[in-house]
Amino acid sequence: MPEYDFNDKVAFISGAARGQGRSHAQHYARHGADVVVTDVGHNFEAVPYDMGTSDELEETAQMVEDEGQQALAIEMDVREEDQVESAVEEALDEFGRIDFLANNAGLWPMSDMTEMDEAEWDVVIDTLLKGVWLCSKHVGKHFIDRGDGGKIVSTSSTAGLVGAPGTGHYTAGKHGVVGMTKTLALELAEYDVNVNAVCPTALDSPGMTNFMEAYGPEMLEEIGELTGPMNVLEPGEMIESRDISEAYMWLSSDAARYVTGIALPVDAGATSK
Ligand SMILES: NC(=O)c1ccc[n+]([C@@H]2O[C@H](COP(=O)([O-])OP(=O)(O)OC[C@H]3O[C@@H](n4cnc5c(N)ncnc54)[C@H](O)[C@@H]3O)[C@@H](O)[C@H]2O)c1
Repeated sequence: MPEYDFNDKVAFISGAARGQGRSHAQHYARHGADVVVTDVGHNFEAVPYDMGTSDELEETAQMVEDEGQQALAIEMDVREEDQVESAVEEALDEFGRIDFLANNAGLWPMSDMTEMDEAEWDVVIDTLLKGVWLCSKHVGKHFIDRGDGGKIVSTSSTAGLVGAPGTGHYTAGKHGVVGMTKTLALELAEYDVNVNAVCPTALDSPGMTNFMEAYGPEMLEEIGELTGPMNVLEPGEMIESRDISEAYMWLSSDAARYVTGIALPVDAGATSK
């Protein structure tokens, strides 16, 4: 594992109760950062599988402390500006600074676009687009005020680069994350802030397990018939959270100081076909 020096730095992560967000928290802490872990802490009516819980969020905070770093756990829905603003304020009161914003929160209920209802569209678009904007807005303001640079990494998806049947809202939202990343990279460059996105292929996380239980194997078989095997490396396998955390660590480090505005596929070759 590469060594990065994140001592005296602070990471702020959305969707950190479990899965990739939890893994990012552990990785930032291992490299010396203190970590603010946030998650919504409740389910959504329009999404038929469970979100992360408050207990899981506390467990993530404990894992950061087990790495010898300080943690702050905050319940925050990325769709709500007052919650995002007060979480950023609380983080700054506690640690005095934020250096890394990890826009990780996301969800992926499935419907064909001709059958999707408005509530499902709204929760996906608001979480993926408004959520990334609001967190970037409030942490970005802090980066500008402090005048000492910063890093924003957002999780898009292979569905942010190509179409994905059954997920029109998700595909639109994740393409939007790539567009926002490029625009934020241009707007924040003069403040020495790097802004990048990571695009994972199918990944084994608690959200993915819950999703598969909720929809059953038929849905996935149907999609598989349309798309064929996704990955070129290890077809049929899912990647792991640590594969994305490693990309996050590199993009948050000085090793990537001249990398900004990119959407980095970590996709086992899925989008190179
Ligand atoms: N798992 C995959 O196959 C895959 C592939 C590509 C991209 N992604 C993306 O990776 C990111 C992490 O997903 P994961 O696989 O770890 O899933 P996960 O469901 O295990 O974790 C996602 C977390 O986000 C939280 N969340 C959802 N909506 C929220 C909201 N409005 N406000 C605050 N928190 C919210 C959930 O409670 C959950 O704890 C997501 O953006 C997802 O879209 C996942």
